[in-house]
Amino acid sequence: MGDTSFDLVIIGAGPGGYVAAAKAAELGMRVACVDKSHLGGTCLNVGCIPSKALLESSELYYKARKGLEHHGVGLGEVGLDLGAMMGRKTKIVQTMGKGIEALFKGHDVAYFAGTGKVVEAGKVSVDSTEVLEAENILLATGSSPVELADLPFDGERIISSTEALALKEVPDRLVVIGAGAIGLELGSVWARLGAEVLVVEFMDQILPGMDREMAGHLGRLLKRQGVECWTGASAQGAEIKGEQVELVVKMGDEERGEVCDRVLVAVGRRAHSAGLGLQELGMEMDERGQVLVDEKWRTSVEGIWAIGDLIPGPMLAHKAEVEGVAVVEQMMGRAGQVNYDAIPAVVYTHPELASVGLSESAAQEKEHQVKIGKYPFRANARAHCMDEIEGLVKIVADSRTDQLLGMQILGPQASHLIAEGVLALEFAASAEDVARTVHAHPALSEVVKEAAWTLCE
Ligand code: NAI
Repeated sequence: MGDTSFDLVIIGAGPGGYVAAAKAAELGMRVACVDKSHLGGTCLNVGCIPSKALLESSELYYKARKGLEHHGVGLGEVGLDLGAMMGRKTKIVQTMGKGIEALFKGHDVAYFAGTGKVVEAGKVSVDSTEVLEAENILLATGSSPVELADLPFDGERIISSTEALALKEVPDRLVVIGAGAIGLELGSVWARLGAEVLVVEFMDQILPGMDREMAGHLGRLLKRQGVECWTGASAQGAEIKGEQVELVVKMGDEERGEVCDRVLVAVGRRAHSAGLGLQELGMEMDERGQVLVDEKWRTSVEGIWAIGDLIPGPMLAHKAEVEGVAVVEQMMGRAGQVNYDAIPAVVYTHPELASVGLSESAAQEKEHQVKIGKYPFRANARAHCMDEIEGLVKIVADSRTDQLLGMQILGPQASHLIAEGVLALEFAASAEDVARTVHAHPALSEVVKEAAWTLCE
């Protein structure tokens, strides 16, 4: 038997856990990491990465189908090899998984494949067979898809994002329940590949947490791509009849029957706190099963820390990563911090919708005197060269101080462009700071600069 005594045992090898493991090793800790599934967690295996692989491939197919004649590029008949597309996705996941394996080897992180459970403070069992000891335990167990009582997953017709990333054929008609990031991204993938897609959203706008104007704009663009979104609607139940699902969708007082061949339920995720032995330890959790932590990510049980989807806050891989670094720094008595006011969020539709900081309405609620700067991609030469003229940049600033409060970008490569907004918030920039910063020409980032200029006198 190998060494079972460590300075830190981490449960969960997702973006929170593996980043924390590497950082802890760099700071001189002896680290073990336990995971019951694959290295890389949800993000790498059944989340962010495979979905982005499919989004890229399906967008290429969609563009090729639409034709490139206006570029002077003639294409032969455009075909779809879904198996090859899925194979490419799997290869990317495997390559990145090997990268984490190498990271662990390079940092001397001991990896234990098995189910971790806290048996008492300072002790973690692996598959109830082996017990690891450590002064510090970090919980980074992530989350899994929420199931609807009326639409229980059967893995075949009523599916979660995991199965929606690995369908063997393109559905004729897909109904997605929930217009969050997962619903819109995976709805987009299958619409581009030829499915008729209906998204049913309970709230009165798609992407309820996002800026209403930008989300509305995205909804109109998605409709053109064959993704229909019904807001103020919910699924009341379903009956599976052979290869079809008969759904009842309620909108206001009206009930409509919808027939489709797959239903993707994407109504949020639930923290993985069950089965970890936390209740037995008397650990404080909220009513949603998320573990409560203080500003140093300490749980109510001494020596046990928690990060990522398991604790309150946005369920985002990059949030877990930054917490992973900061919590380890805290364990070592350093000043690890996370600026929760500057965490970007991206929906990888086409175009992408990215945001950071406050939306217009959130800024008003916080009693800022708000001024708004907007600029369209349509006015940018590079966007025309790229055939990507839809969307706009919206900047929210305080009209008294000119301080930047938030940025929303609906447009090409918004996931990359938003980094400028994040940095501007980190450095407490004014809108004028952003406007006067030199931006390369011709580049999409000029749209950010121009939106900022509209706020300068
Ligand atoms: P979500 O919470 O973002 O969206 C779920 C949507 O379903 C909400 O708009 C909600 O109003 C709606 N909903 C809930 N119950 C419903 C019902 N019965 N009928 C109709 N609509 C209903 O959850 P989602 O998309 O499942 O994602 C889970 C988590 O993963 C989120 O925290 C999300 O931020 C994260 N994620 C982030 C991604 C990204 O950053 N690009 C990609 C995928 C997931």
